[in-house]
Amino acid sequence: MLNIKKICVIGLGYIGLPTAALLANKGYDVHGVDVVKTTVDTINEGRVHIVEPELDSFVKKAVKNCKLKADLIPTVADVFIIAVPTPFHDGFIPNIDYIVSATKSISPFVKDGDIIILESTSPIGTTHKVEDVLKENGVDVSKLYISHCPERVLPGQIMRELVENDRIVGGITKEATQKTMEFYKTFVDGEVLGTDAKTAEMAKLTENSFRDVNIAFANELSILCDKFEIDVTELINLTNRHPRVNVLKPGAGVGGHCIAVDPWFIVHAGGDDAKIIKTAREVNTYKTQWVIQKIKNEALKFELKNSKKAKVACMGLAFKPNIDDLRESPALYITKTLLNDGLEVLAVEPNIKEYSEFKIVNYEDALKEADIIVFLVAHKEFVGLKIDTTLDFCGVLK
Ligand SMILES: NC(=O)c1ccc[n+]([C@@H]2O[C@H](COP(=O)([O-])OP(=O)(O)OC[C@H]3O[C@@H](n4cnc5c(N)ncnc54)[C@H](O)[C@@H]3O)[C@@H](O)[C@H]2O)c1
Repeated sequence: MLNIKKICVIGLGYIGLPTAALLANKGYDVHGVDVVKTTVDTINEGRVHIVEPELDSFVKKAVKNCKLKADLIPTVADVFIIAVPTPFHDGFIPNIDYIVSATKSISPFVKDGDIIILESTSPIGTTHKVEDVLKENGVDVSKLYISHCPERVLPGQIMRELVENDRIVGGITKEATQKTMEFYKTFVDGEVLGTDAKTAEMAKLTENSFRDVNIAFANELSILCDKFEIDVTELINLTNRHPRVNVLKPGAGVGGHCIAVDPWFIVHAGGDDAKIIKTAREVNTYKTQWVIQKIKNEALKFELKNSKKAKVACMGLAFKPNIDDLRESPALYITKTLLNDGLEVLAVEPNIKEYSEFKIVNYEDALKEADIIVFLVAHKEFVGLKIDTTLDFCGVLK
């Protein structure tokens, strides 16, 4: 039987804070830890520093009931959950520095019988690395239950998906898997599936690589169809009428901090054997460069014909439709590149009001003012617009 009262969550970002707030509302005493003081202070005031539906009311209630407290340092607990960033270094080399430092920070507080869970998306072997770091810091790991449980929630639906999604739990021992599964079953309605740590790590990387490879296929098709003068949206709609075909939508590339990042963890470890996964990354990156070239060609044609520079409206900056998240966004990269290369750009993003590096233009004004209209993100505001001369890279007008 589990006897869990106190949970320490390390990293209070998009994953850690919703998890901490959910657990606190389930009755656990939650001690949340972040290295950013303003984050800690904001949470302790019962407020949130990130945009996610329903999160504010979960945090407010948890703090009011003294079930959630944020701090700069960890404390003694029965379960530790690590949810810190896992970006890459230059050259697409996985960066697990945040995990190592989070693990070091909990080592003085870990006691026999504790469950240590790594939720960050991690390169293969990282859960064992957590064990090594604890050992190096004087912890007797023989009586701990150390596991990986990757997070697979969709931003915008995190509070619901934290409860409803199936979860994969991979312990570094069978007992660790078992104990950690029991813990997740206390708050997850989805199925909790047990495996080993390496398989759990690879499962998460596989999920994101699967998406990347499939998007790369659609992006490659869009480039080929442009060459063959075929409408790619019509083509995909037709091929998807085959009962076993489901081609995804092409776009201006692939963005976000997951799908554009995590496949590199496999490529880094897999080397020459990760052929399709590496090529998919390259195809999706190339698609962004291809889009830039198309826009520049169009702008040059306009300039030669009209003896003046074209005003280019870049419609959408976020990495996917109907969000304000600009992380690793190809649309943002395209817009910045055009500006840096001297084009006149009207940057449109209905989901953000201002941006530090350039002015955000209202989309209706941009449509009136622009000579060339470029759709980069299929935001709901753009669906069904009736416009003649456009470059639609996300199929929003179809
Ligand atoms: N956001 C998502 O939609 C999503 C989905 C699935 C998986 N993930 C994975 O979850 C992990 C966390 O992602 P996120 O989006 O929550 O990141 P985030 O950047 O929103 O939050 C991470 C938090 O950790 C804090 N932090 C960094 N080092 C710390 C340390 N040593 N001790 C305490 N706090 C520390 C940061 O200040 C930050 O607030 C990543 O591995 C990510 O790939 C994210």
